[in-house]
Amino acid sequence: MSQFKKIGVLTSGGDAPGMNAAIRAVVRTAVYNGLEIVGVKRGYNGLLHEDFINMDARSVGETLQKGGTILQTARCLEFKTSEGVKKAVEVAKRNEIDGLIVIGGDGSFRGARDLTREGLPTVAMPGTIDNDINCSEYTVGYDTCLNTVIEAVDKLRDTSSSHERCSVVEVMGRGAGYIAIESAIACGAEVVLIPEEPFDFQKDVIDVIQQGKERGKKHSIVIVAEGVGGTVEMAKKIEEQTGVEARATILGHVQRGGSPTVRDRVIASQMGARAVELLLEGKSNRIVCMQHGEIADVDIEEGLNMKKHVSQELIKLARQLAI
Ligand code: ADP
Ligand code: F6P
Repeated sequence: MSQFKKIGVLTSGGDAPGMNAAIRAVVRTAVYNGLEIVGVKRGYNGLLHEDFINMDARSVGETLQKGGTILQTARCLEFKTSEGVKKAVEVAKRNEIDGLIVIGGDGSFRGARDLTREGLPTVAMPGTIDNDINCSEYTVGYDTCLNTVIEAVDKLRDTSSSHERCSVVEVMGRGAGYIAIESAIACGAEVVLIPEEPFDFQKDVIDVIQQGKERGKKHSIVIVAEGVGGTVEMAKKIEEQTGVEARATILGHVQRGGSPTVRDRVIASQMGARAVELLLEGKSNRIVCMQHGEIADVDIEEGLNMKKHVSQELIKLARQLAI
């Protein structure tokens, strides 16, 4: 017999398309296995302020295709203190919540680890558009975000081409360049700048745009990861130094919304279901992740200490195909 009768689920940190598919999988796997399940509203805030909703298989109907998160999400400063974590565990115990599933990024995983240490078994899974979770090849929301980016850049290409301009596009990713590098390849960008790879503005930006123009290119696309920044100034400098008219576009939060793609729906469903199964198997302090294309799980502390890098092959490919 499992020690679990009732579990909770929350979303924390920045939202990501596919979070609802993950919540749905958690809720339905819990119900399938005879567990009670509560949704915790607004991330760790809901734990501190007893903001719970009882859920069942029907409460997650019609949510699979929706972007955002039906539980809402937040960044909760109070929870970062040890008093906050203790209070959250007390609240969970008082409400007879025996375990918790956390959907979010690495900040949220640190919170999950702290809860486990204080006595509330917790399993986490990656939900963030940034794909910046070191222990996982994939984070829920990344594919939908990439599709939003390429749709926008394809449109920018049309107008850049008509006006023979350079379009400088800033994409999200926090400190990571995964969104930038893959969207650059998918959009055929002439230049991509990511925080992980140092660059020389003259050689890697100005010269590339000028040489492209000499080879007959009518326009150029420069993708800038937000971790590099300075997008508006960069467009001005490109115009001054190449004589090519340049426009800056910061794609912003549009990248966080929208109906999740097949990939996000399927992986969110697999990860959400696995998270509940791990609790039922008596495992906690785990991150559900993707390794070698398969759903796996690692200890939270080990997962937080792992390293992952933007593929050098992708960086090389982006340059090679931009000639
Ligand atoms: P993400 O999970 O997307 O990385 P944040 O870094 O904003 O987002 O973290 C989300 C929430 O997780 C924070 O608001 C806080 O409540 C909790 N959290 C973040 N870092 C820690 C930490 N070091 N210890 C405990 N809780 C944390
Ligand atoms: O982590 C997701 C993300 O969208 C990052 O790409 C970005 O840096 C950050 O969140 C923006 O956060 P906020 O919603 O607070 O503007």
